[in-house]
Amino acid sequence: MTETKKSPNIVRFGIIGVGGMGQGHCNGIKDVEEAVLTAVCDTDPVTAEKVGTQHNVPYFTHHKQMIDAGLCDAVIVATPHPERPVPAIDAMKAGLHLISEKPLSERVSTADQMIATAKETGVTFAIMFQRRMEPAAAKAIELVHNGAIGTIRRATLISPEYRNQSYYDSGGWRATWKGEGGGVMMNQSPHVLDLFVQIAGMPSLVYGNIETALHNIEVEDVASAMLKYPEGGTGFFYCSTNEAGPGQMIEIFGDKGKLVLRDGQLKVYEFPVSIPEFTAGEHDMWDGPECKEVPITLEGKAPGHRGVIRNVARHILYGEPLVSPGEEGLYSLELANAVMLSSYTKKPVSLPINRKEYDDFLQEMRSKSTFVKQVKQIKRKTDPRHK
Ligand SMILES: NC(=O)c1ccc[n+]([C@@H]2O[C@H](COP(=O)([O-])OP(=O)(O)OC[C@H]3O[C@@H](n4cnc5c(N)ncnc54)[C@H](O)[C@@H]3O)[C@@H](O)[C@H]2O)c1
Repeated sequence: MTETKKSPNIVRFGIIGVGGMGQGHCNGIKDVEEAVLTAVCDTDPVTAEKVGTQHNVPYFTHHKQMIDAGLCDAVIVATPHPERPVPAIDAMKAGLHLISEKPLSERVSTADQMIATAKETGVTFAIMFQRRMEPAAAKAIELVHNGAIGTIRRATLISPEYRNQSYYDSGGWRATWKGEGGGVMMNQSPHVLDLFVQIAGMPSLVYGNIETALHNIEVEDVASAMLKYPEGGTGFFYCSTNEAGPGQMIEIFGDKGKLVLRDGQLKVYEFPVSIPEFTAGEHDMWDGPECKEVPITLEGKAPGHRGVIRNVARHILYGEPLVSPGEEGLYSLELANAVMLSSYTKKPVSLPINRKEYDDFLQEMRSKSTFVKQVKQIKRKTDPRHK
């Protein structure tokens, strides 16, 4: 069995939760020269033993045993999200660096606790938002942050995230109030919600609507919302596990330009004279502002989860800036929780949301749940797109 000693140029990672995603990380770490897998943990003893044996590392069935064994400098927590805050906080309190899978948790109150613990302990805290490293997404974020689009007037997100019924039936926790605390916004859309808030910023008000339209599940497979931004812009979003095919899109329109990120392609346009300036000037009554496409060069390839693991290891070892700091995981979660709350209360919800109100709402949904989950066979299978 491999037991790797502490080293000045390698970070020793343990993984808590070695189901589909956790096993993907066990394999991915092998391609990161600054990282090594030194332990795994899963509450399912058969899974813990199988994965530990396969990777020739010690395995545990309780996260505290793994933490106390002193085999790791950092952990990745890839449990179902409601099971994330406890092992994540215990690991940080023991001085271990943390990569949280997405979302940080199923609710903002416990995500707040994770963020507070990271601050208190001073450990490195990151979230697995690997899509931030896709060249088109990274460029879009950079352009908006450099002011290329100006004040945002309209932001749109469309996200088809198709899943079949067999996916939902592969685990007792999936798509239930207790096991996930939400549906498409909680599990399939956090990456694109993160890109959306990175690009368009956080709204200050949401009007949400959720539906369970196609699948036999307890929570939403469609979520839509209208958003108001603090500077006056309007946003729309639609995420669904019912819609298949291409068309994942983030489009924003601002005073100085437009940006369209669609299926990994980026188009950027500028208004040489900004919309407010043009509008106030004197023109022929049918004139409109010039809109020019700006040539964009995209470099590199998306490194996937390995890119985040490498970035975190290099942050710990050499101070490289983090691509996805853990505290930024709160934004997309806050938006998802706000849309959910608005949909149930049938009222607009202001952000940041009231933590107690959301906890009470979730508790109520969980306590009055009568849904009987049918699982023929539990499957812990890595999404082939993440291998
Ligand atoms: N970043 C990404 O692209 C990505 C992709 C897929 C999944 N995920 C996230 O990863 C998480 C897990 O998803 P999955 O598809 O791997 O689920 P899964 O059901 O395949 O695996 C979860 C594993 O966690 C174990 N577990 C549950 N509670 C535990 C605990 N307290 N301690 C240790 N182990 C525990 C289960 O036994 C199971 O083996 C989810 O939060 C999901 O959103 C992220």
